[in-house]
Amino acid sequence: MNSEPATLYRVDDLPALEFDPFLRASLHEAPVRRIRLPHGEGECWLVTSYHLVRFVTSDPRFSRDIAGRPIPKMTRHLIPLDRAVSFVDPPDHARVRAAVAPAFSGTAVSTLRPRVQDLLDAMVDRLMDGQRPADLVRDITSPFPLAVIGLVMGIPKADHANVREWATTLLTRASDEQAAQRAERAKQDSRVYFQRLAGLRRADPRDDTMTTLVRATESGTIDEEELLALATLIGLNGWHAVCNNSSNMLYALLTTEGLWGRLCAEPHTVPRAVDELLRWVPHKHGVGQPRITTEDVRVRDVLIREGEYVYVSYVAANWDERVYPLAGDIDFDRQAPKHLAFGNGPHFCVGPLLAHMEAEVLLSTLTARLPTLRLAVPREQVPWQTGILIRGPKSLPATW
Ligand code: HEM
Repeated sequence: MNSEPATLYRVDDLPALEFDPFLRASLHEAPVRRIRLPHGEGECWLVTSYHLVRFVTSDPRFSRDIAGRPIPKMTRHLIPLDRAVSFVDPPDHARVRAAVAPAFSGTAVSTLRPRVQDLLDAMVDRLMDGQRPADLVRDITSPFPLAVIGLVMGIPKADHANVREWATTLLTRASDEQAAQRAERAKQDSRVYFQRLAGLRRADPRDDTMTTLVRATESGTIDEEELLALATLIGLNGWHAVCNNSSNMLYALLTTEGLWGRLCAEPHTVPRAVDELLRWVPHKHGVGQPRITTEDVRVRDVLIREGEYVYVSYVAANWDERVYPLAGDIDFDRQAPKHLAFGNGPHFCVGPLLAHMEAEVLLSTLTARLPTLRLAVPREQVPWQTGILIRGPKSLPATW
């Protein structure tokens, strides 16, 4: 056991998009820090600085083979998906990822873009025909990525509400027994659902990612359990991550002097703005999944022993002042190394090109069609989700 004293990281809910003070202090005082978390067993490490986060996430001595272990964690119940790609190490990991890589490639995403634009245009038409103020989460940032991931995966519209419900349940911090049971049920129900959808595509192939996954099982690239875990992760994350991230982007743009006006006046800035907002938005609350060391590793001047758990914070790394001066400012003209909003190393997100494209379509459409868009309430009255793993507003009352 290492002699470094451990600090308790309580991972309390934070107001709006305020940067986590514990992460800020860790970045400044102890970028490799020994911590305890509210739940699970024992102590672990938290790595926050940009370069060290990149080091840990790309060095194979930090393994993701953690399923079923009694890890220190921020939630009382963690319901990891059996055989999820998040818990597979290379080289097996590359085999599983190869099964979906073509569906989320640059070519696939560019081909999809006109259909994504049509989906959003129809939603914005309805928004503009409806009453003011409207709720941008209910009317746009929730249904839009749901429709997109439905299209990509081949999930019929009638089932979208279920996908949203399962994602909301599974990606919330289950803090008591009832919530844990709800999460277990959602896990089972979504599994049965994707099993049925895979069966339908086996019998009647279509041009969608579920068919791609089914073909990968037929060619022996992945097995049935891997298909189900991948389909669930993509289906649920594909909505949940983009919904919250784009709600947060809109909140930041509408509450920071000058940003919305600049995007309206300079539409060519949108791709750069999306990248800077991805860096700035503190997407994840607390920590995600840890890694375990397969041998003793020195991380800067700290020795991490074999078998110890190590969390990284991509959110903290994206606010590391040594890499991003004035990190708390949203600066569309920032010249800086690549942000880590989608992670780093083998477990890099499956859908960054898709998520980027969705945000570009969203911001370019809303700035073009609703240049006078603004919050309809003082920013302090925007309600925020609590007890969550990914941060985001419950609603965004807005007018134009
Ligand atoms: C703005 C939106 C998104 C953000 C900020 C985001 C962020 C992330 C991050 C940080 C990771 C890596 C965590 C780690 O080190 O384990 C990750 C992994 C993952 N993401 Fe995303 N994501 C987003 C959208 C999406 C979308 C649209 C999809 C589906 C198409 C998706 C599917 C996944 C999957 C399957 C993984 C696991 C990859 C692996 O372990 O190999 N994400 N995401």
